[in-house]
Amino acid sequence: MINSVGVIGAGTMGHGIAEVCAISGLEVCLVDISDEFLMAARKKISWSLDSLARKKLISESAEKVASRIRTSIDLNDLSQVDCIIEAVKEDFTVKAGLLKDLSHILKPGCIISSNTSTIPISELASVSGRPESFIGLHFSNPPIIMPIVEIIMGNNTQESTLNEIKGLATRLKKDFVVVKKDVAGFLINRINDRIITEALAMHEEGSSIEDMDSMVRFRLNFPMGIFELLDFVGIDIVFNANRELRDRGFDTASSKILEGKVKSGKIGIKAGEGFYSYPAGGGYYRHMVIPTQEMYSVNPLRLLSTAINEAAWILKNEVATAEDIEKSMIKAMNWPEGPLAMADRFGINNVVDMLKHLHATTGLSRYEPNSLLLEMVEDGKLGMENGKGFRKWDAETTNFGSVIFRKQQNYAVITLNRPEKLNALNEDEWEGIRLALESAGEDDAIRSIIINAKGRAFCAGDDIEMMKGWKSKQDVDSWVRNYATPLMELLERYPKPIISAVNGFAFGGGCELNMMFDIVIAAEDAVFSLPEGLIGAIPPIGTTLGMALISRKLARYALTGEWIPAKDAMEIGIVDVAVPAEQLFIVAAEFAGKISKMSPLSIREIKAAMNSVRSVFSPNVSLGTDALARLSQTKDFAEGQDAFIHKRKPAWTGK
Ligand code: NAI
Repeated sequence: MINSVGVIGAGTMGHGIAEVCAISGLEVCLVDISDEFLMAARKKISWSLDSLARKKLISESAEKVASRIRTSIDLNDLSQVDCIIEAVKEDFTVKAGLLKDLSHILKPGCIISSNTSTIPISELASVSGRPESFIGLHFSNPPIIMPIVEIIMGNNTQESTLNEIKGLATRLKKDFVVVKKDVAGFLINRINDRIITEALAMHEEGSSIEDMDSMVRFRLNFPMGIFELLDFVGIDIVFNANRELRDRGFDTASSKILEGKVKSGKIGIKAGEGFYSYPAGGGYYRHMVIPTQEMYSVNPLRLLSTAINEAAWILKNEVATAEDIEKSMIKAMNWPEGPLAMADRFGINNVVDMLKHLHATTGLSRYEPNSLLLEMVEDGKLGMENGKGFRKWDAETTNFGSVIFRKQQNYAVITLNRPEKLNALNEDEWEGIRLALESAGEDDAIRSIIINAKGRAFCAGDDIEMMKGWKSKQDVDSWVRNYATPLMELLERYPKPIISAVNGFAFGGGCELNMMFDIVIAAEDAVFSLPEGLIGAIPPIGTTLGMALISRKLARYALTGEWIPAKDAMEIGIVDVAVPAEQLFIVAAEFAGKISKMSPLSIREIKAAMNSVRSVFSPNVSLGTDALARLSQTKDFAEGQDAFIHKRKPAWTGK
């Protein structure tokens, strides 16, 4: 049992580690090479302890805790401690010299741990003279706050040493992950290097740091953007860690951008300038990252795919368990979820496709998908989409005619599935959408709905075959009564947010339905239109509710049938966000994620309030559908349908 520790090195990490140990009741001897460094460390510790005591975060007085820390510049003062935590500068020669000196001083049975970020534990263990008692104990910065440590086994570390260190971590009230093999960068820094290297590559290719950080903060929900993080940690530290990793055979890239920053001294917050600028003085400042419109041009899957690939490598090589991989990135880096859960969310097949694409376009071996990912795809493990991934997820699929209903965690995906007819709305499809929405509405676990479509169009509007079948006004009335009105009425009172993900064409009814949804995400190459006048009909929603709630500008499009590209549709207000086509579902799912963080009761009231406005216009929409019924009995309507089917110009008679 460890009751006393010797912390060597009183710098950024060492003084914090000493403080954590003393708070937990351990006797601490903090050693550095000069009294000056030790004085500075004492000052920082007592400032921190005072602050913790004021906030009642420690049960003893600051003085009592501090009295358990003695400081020394003499290694001999460590002769009776139960455990060493080495936290001197990241330099093998310095650490090795120190360990050699210690080998003559420490008592038998003393455990030696190192806080090294990159140096292999086994290399340090071999110079320590007691490899069986040597182990990695990697704290995150700042040690007082970060709730987790990485424990790294050297090649000869004994189980009893591991157990003692686990006990120590528990006593320090730190959660821990065990890195079972002594690989370069251990667990956290391997994954961090991947994401940082990819961010730098994307920046070099033209993505601005503002757009990238905005994407990471506001779309991935990371606590800091990658460039913010680099400035916070210190660009020199990250640059050196990357070099250490490469020196130990880790297949990563060095960055000219980082090198330039290090050479010019622009190494982050501590220098007053890094990727962003800060007030002088080296204090802690945060750059204000705000959402940029262009954050949707940056593909989060690209940024994450290499980190996910690394996590797969770690798992495949039994370096750490899946649980520990997830826990370490969540607790040490504050990621909103672990890389394996992210892989499941984005889809293992999509991760593999992205890696293959990057590999094919760059020829770089670091992009080769890990065999574990390839095997998973081969075994049909696609992630949340089908419930099988790095772990099991609830997933249910039901077909309502040609409409697919899929429950995926806390949202439902309703997919129009008549791609051969460009998802044109026939009776079956009108009804299928309604039944799927009703089903999603009844399930309390479902917080929002995404509507998307298979094939090259979202929806080409009402099916012309169906309209041709309207022989009498009664036929149209019956269609309105049985299919159109029930869905529209459901949408007017629907209690959950509906997000649509529009690809390709959204014409006629396919455009108008979007005017009744809550959030419309469109692929940049999607096209909207209200072409009903070209076939002798009328857009009943676009000319009423659409004019009132979306924009008067719809008049132009209802009166001409002109196409509306996604960007223009965004200006008019039909579309909320236009995104690169490959990100359509990713962004829709992000919005579902954002909604799931809101209070369900608030969402219900917000929807009810918005629906009260929408329903004001239902008499107008009914006037529109009445007009459609009237028009359907005219010669011009028949002419319009026939001309459309035969791809000829209609000859209007006004009858
Ligand atoms: P630092 O440079 O702030 O502190 C190192 C301290 O060690 C200095 O006070 C120095 O005087 C002292 N020192 C050097 N040689 C010594 C010797 N022979 N005997 C006694 N003291 C000696 O470094 P920092 O950032 O605290 O890093 C320490 C270790 O922790 C490194 O191995 C680093 O990789 C690791 N680490 C650092 C993290 C960070 O965010 N800074 C995070 C996790 C690990």
